[in-house]
Amino acid sequence: MEWWRIAGVAMMSTMGTGLAQDTGEIRLPPPETAGGMSLMQALQARHSTREFAGRALPPQELSNLLWAANGVNRPQSGQRTAPTAHDWREIDVYVTTADGAYRYDPPSHALIKVADGDLRPLAGVQDFVATVPVNLVYVADLERMSGAGAEDKAFYSATDAGFIAQNVYLYCASAGLAAVVRGLIDRDALGAALGLKKHQRIILAQSVGYPAGTR
Ligand SMILES: Cc1cc2nc3c(=O)[nH]c(=O)nc-3n(C[C@H](O)[C@H](O)[C@H](O)COP(=O)(O)O)c2cc1C
Repeated sequence: MEWWRIAGVAMMSTMGTGLAQDTGEIRLPPPETAGGMSLMQALQARHSTREFAGRALPPQELSNLLWAANGVNRPQSGQRTAPTAHDWREIDVYVTTADGAYRYDPPSHALIKVADGDLRPLAGVQDFVATVPVNLVYVADLERMSGAGAEDKAFYSATDAGFIAQNVYLYCASAGLAAVVRGLIDRDALGAALGLKKHQRIILAQSVGYPAGTR
């Protein structure tokens, strides 16, 4: 087993288990879906934090985080840990790290590279955003919201992103991670850097890392 740095996290080579970097796809380890705090304890512990330790999230932590955010919890239907209006599944979770930017693909539980380089400074306007290990960016693909008018698209995509953000908050509380959801974003700059199309809209971002002062 060999460790190397990719995706801003310490990735471990698991030869023959489907890592397909040549296609720009990074398979994550299966999420750990047992354990953690009780839901009531996680609700008690949930809070926003804006002070983070610098160290990267290990691959298992990133896997758990993304699955909690918006992973597939019913493989037969492909439905997710977060609800979506009309089952549109219009929110994509993008991930910016020191090493690149990725889109999380729930069906394959993999990261698809969308940009090289460190886009973290563009993921928000607050200082910690540039150095936090991971910024999740919630992007609505308005073309998936078939039949909805502009007002409904704005309303439901914001609502659906909120569910994902709360999943992340609760996972972080349970796992001892620090997190803050953020609306203060230069959406034009970040959207251009991520290569978003006109029908894709950045709703919110959320910074995640270990709490400052922890090892
Ligand atoms: C939609 C939304 C947008 C937010 N935007 C930001 C932001 O841009 N920057 C920030 O530091 N906190 C942001 N927050 C976090 C709030 O400031 C925080 O949730 C609030 O102060 C309550 O604190 P708590 O989360 O610890 O309960 C946002 C929260 C929500 C729900």
